[in-house]
Amino acid sequence: MENKIAHVAIATENLEDAKSFFELISGNKASKVHEVSSQKVNTSFIKIGETNFELLEPIGDDTPITKFLSKAGGGIHHICIETSNFDELIKQIKSTGVRTLGEPSIGAMDKRVIFFHPKDTFNVLIELEEA
Ligand code: CO
Repeated sequence: MENKIAHVAIATENLEDAKSFFELISGNKASKVHEVSSQKVNTSFIKIGETNFELLEPIGDDTPITKFLSKAGGGIHHICIETSNFDELIKQIKSTGVRTLGEPSIGAMDKRVIFFHPKDTFNVLIELEEA
């Protein structure tokens, strides 16, 4: 079973500005802005080659993305890997001692997703998405 990168997520202060740049550089149109209430973000996806950029903008002041923006000033926020083996893979990853950030929830593509603790994943926030 080989998984693939579903998207690379980029945190921004201003989704519209980011859309313009990434539309230009990818040569594609960004998707309609979609609110993900579980993560308190607005998202827009842009296809680039085999994968996508997910542009993120926080909704409100008390969100994980707001914290990330104030700490890091934006940039790559997470990488999402898609698998058809969602539940089993989570079990396997947890058994190696990697912690999850909460339980699976419904992500931006209306698919089940879960995040792993970046301290356990080489300082890269990884999102796992069910194919
Ligand atoms: Co994502």
